[in-house]
Amino acid sequence: MVNDGKAAPIIHAALKRLEYRGYDSVGEATVYDGRLLIKKDQGKIDDVHKRLDLDDLPGKMGIGHTRWATHGAPSMVNSHPHTDCSNKIAVVHNGIIENFNDLKDELTDKGHVFVSRTDTEVIPHLIEENMKSGLNFVESVRDSVKRLSGSYALVAIHVDEPNKIVFARNASPLVVGISETGLYASSDIPTLLPLTKKIIEVYNGEMVILSEKGVEIRRIEDWSPIKRESSIITWTVEMAQKQGFPHFMLKEIHEQPKCLEDTLRLQQRYIDLLTTFLDRSKEIYLLACGTSYHSCLAASYMFSNLCNLPTLPVIASEFIEQYGEAVNIDSTILAVSQSGETADVLHAIEQARFKAATILGLTNAIGSTLTRVSRAYICQQSGPEIGVAASKTFTSQLMVLSQIALRLAKVRGKISQEKIDYLEEKMKDIPNMVDKIILNQEKKVKGIVEKYKNTKCFYFLGRGINTATAFEGRLKLLEISYIPSIAYPAGESKHGAISLVEKGFPVIFVCPQDGTRKALIGNIMEMKARGASIITIIDENDKEIKALSDEYVDIPSDVPELLSPIPYVVPLQLFAYYMAVEKGCNPDMPRNLAKSVTVL
Ligand code: M6R
Repeated sequence: MVNDGKAAPIIHAALKRLEYRGYDSVGEATVYDGRLLIKKDQGKIDDVHKRLDLDDLPGKMGIGHTRWATHGAPSMVNSHPHTDCSNKIAVVHNGIIENFNDLKDELTDKGHVFVSRTDTEVIPHLIEENMKSGLNFVESVRDSVKRLSGSYALVAIHVDEPNKIVFARNASPLVVGISETGLYASSDIPTLLPLTKKIIEVYNGEMVILSEKGVEIRRIEDWSPIKRESSIITWTVEMAQKQGFPHFMLKEIHEQPKCLEDTLRLQQRYIDLLTTFLDRSKEIYLLACGTSYHSCLAASYMFSNLCNLPTLPVIASEFIEQYGEAVNIDSTILAVSQSGETADVLHAIEQARFKAATILGLTNAIGSTLTRVSRAYICQQSGPEIGVAASKTFTSQLMVLSQIALRLAKVRGKISQEKIDYLEEKMKDIPNMVDKIILNQEKKVKGIVEKYKNTKCFYFLGRGINTATAFEGRLKLLEISYIPSIAYPAGESKHGAISLVEKGFPVIFVCPQDGTRKALIGNIMEMKARGASIITIIDENDKEIKALSDEYVDIPSDVPELLSPIPYVVPLQLFAYYMAVEKGCNPDMPRNLAKSVTVL
């Protein structure tokens, strides 16, 4: 909502910044001259803009949406905004309305006509129905929202209220931005940064009314007013842009040394707080999805080795089935989520809270739902990550988790002072080491990509803590270059997956100089005996394994085993990135994926 000029170009530019959240269709609506004007279609924002000119809509107030399909395939009719029968109300929505089928039946019986297959469309019809019963627009939105089950950050406008936008939030992120020139709201903070740095967070169960009077926040349940101070966001717009790199992912891979340094600073009192909670627990569940799960898997080796504490890494979507009954008042859940909004993580946490477990969080998004449901949380401090494929997330999370594991080890007196001193010293070297790897090995990795660009499948193997590195390397490659790939703990591979290996089949080994090395050499020999091409990520001084490798990428020597996933994953990130580019795929926007998966 702007004081002067048109809202549409501002919405269009904001949607571009939000595109990483979803990009199968896009739409905008404005109110002008007593009419609701809508442009929307299937496709990425740039393509739709070329066809429809999204900037062309008149009006000082409007809403927009970039979609990642949940209900109803990507298509023009399923694109947001959605409208009511009279075409007076428009709504955009992020999340899922679980009871939409029941509501749709009820509204259809009352004569409402639906045009899309989305869950969202029930919302404008519900508002319309409530208005028929005499409520005003805002009251109708409130009563409609009360009938919704599921997750939503939703926005509604009405032609007869050309100076009002109404928002509601439950379990999907929503923030408001305030500036001299207008009022804004979005699903994330970076979207608003070029417009304003003055932000107000909106919490679950709240509604926001933006109007000429300013920002009004109310609790949906009892309509009580909420006073909340704005805060100033220190992220710069530049931080959220590509800074000259062709893709966000490459920029984010290159940012890792800086992020790791940031992660080493300023964490101490939060690390202490988390450690206090962890020390009290009988068992720790490390809960996450995707890359964050791989961080948890690596961290479970750190916690078990350093602290002698049973630590279970769990894929969040499996948590309830696997441990829902076992979790109890003595359990601690350390939930790890870059976005802090991953629905599988939040859903699992709900169950754990119900069983009185202690919830702790590690996230990149302060103000996210995870930070609000956690007893204590810590920030991974890596700044906005826009590429859908997580890169700096993995290394920053591991740097935080290793500091927590080390602090806990100290508190519990489980390792010697000498080992603590050694690990603390080595931690400080890691940012510089990652910098060197990027500087010295990027070209080499590109060369390996060139050689293997037509390969149909890759096999990633690691042992011990670097099983997690192998899993992460596999995830990176397959999610952005669409090359089906497999990853195993190297010792397990001979129990089945080795049957895939034939002459020239590429096997990528993660091989630090550590306790797993001897066994790993055995695994390399097994693969070589079957004709595999051996690619190793290897200690620069390891001549023996180099001699067994067809290709290798050097990692500086003397990395402690428990910190090794941080430098050793970097060549695998670069490998995935360059392979995606080589194959003509956009690494920042892999098909079918969204940066933050806010549905179950
Ligand atoms: O925001 P989160 O860390 O909770 O996200 C978890 C996963 O969705 C995420 O890591 C995903 O797997 C990425 N695409 C991996 O690159």
